[in-house]
Amino acid sequence: MMIGTPELNEDKHELAYIIDLVYEKSRVRLHEGKEQLIRARLGKRIRLYGFNSLREYIHFLKSTPEELTHVVDSLTTNYTHFLREKDHFEFLASAAANHQANNSKSSFKVWSAACATGEEPYSMSFYLSDNSLASRVSNWSILATDISTKALETARRGIYPSDKIGMVPQEWLPKFFQKGSRDWEGWFRVKESIRQRIQFKQLNLLGFYPFSDLFEVIFCRNVMIYFDRETQKQLIDKLAATLSPGGLLFIGHSESLNGIQGPLNCVSPSIYQRPS
Ligand SMILES: C[S@@+](CC[C@H](N)C(=O)[O-])C[C@H]1O[C@@H](n2cnc3c(N)ncnc32)[C@H](O)[C@@H]1O
Repeated sequence: MMIGTPELNEDKHELAYIIDLVYEKSRVRLHEGKEQLIRARLGKRIRLYGFNSLREYIHFLKSTPEELTHVVDSLTTNYTHFLREKDHFEFLASAAANHQANNSKSSFKVWSAACATGEEPYSMSFYLSDNSLASRVSNWSILATDISTKALETARRGIYPSDKIGMVPQEWLPKFFQKGSRDWEGWFRVKESIRQRIQFKQLNLLGFYPFSDLFEVIFCRNVMIYFDRETQKQLIDKLAATLSPGGLLFIGHSESLNGIQGPLNCVSPSIYQRPS
């Protein structure tokens, strides 16, 4: 099989090695049919180092553990956008307001558990800052994590081209973004006052969680879809244990916890609650 230049002479054995490695590190299972994606994405790394084949690259990978991050980054998909599945952010804002009304002294802790390039936690912060229901909630914090260091770099920077912010209501732009000029014409940066309220960290959802506090809300959306059922079940048990009593777990609209929801109650499609 050949791709671009230089020629790559990988075979099934090498592709299987990469598929198993990505599964071991992220639990993302690259099924049959993803060979083309692997070739295209790793082709960039192979060319970068001047190797001639996937085999040579794997040889290098085995002796260079830090390169593993690039393999996982290249092969896990980071697709996201601002206000994706918008009803979840509206639900978040009213949950924050309820929390404030019932526990005015305790903080409202939110975790965006697969934040990709940051649009999800920034959308949360817009709602927590602006929504009239949540406007009385001042004591909130957001932890945003992802396995991909590359996606996290973009998230921390908070700089997006104008076509990425089309979903953000016009009236929010001056409130939450700085508009770029001259060299930055066509780019928008999330204002520092918002950026500094979000803590970005690398974390593997299937690994150890180094938290001492429980969360009132966890968004774990559009990532479970890549895991097998057994891994999804383990993940839900871990997330449920990280929610405060009465806390809410949001999953993607196209995901389902049928048969694996453990201790959580379904409060609305794609929203689950830990019993109080
Ligand atoms: C499709 S994006 C979803 C982004 C956002 N939650 C949304 O719904 O728009 C999936 C993200 O999951 C991350 N991911 C994949 N496996 C992971 C793991 N084991 N631990 C943490 N994040 C992971 C990927 O790096 C990617 O950024």
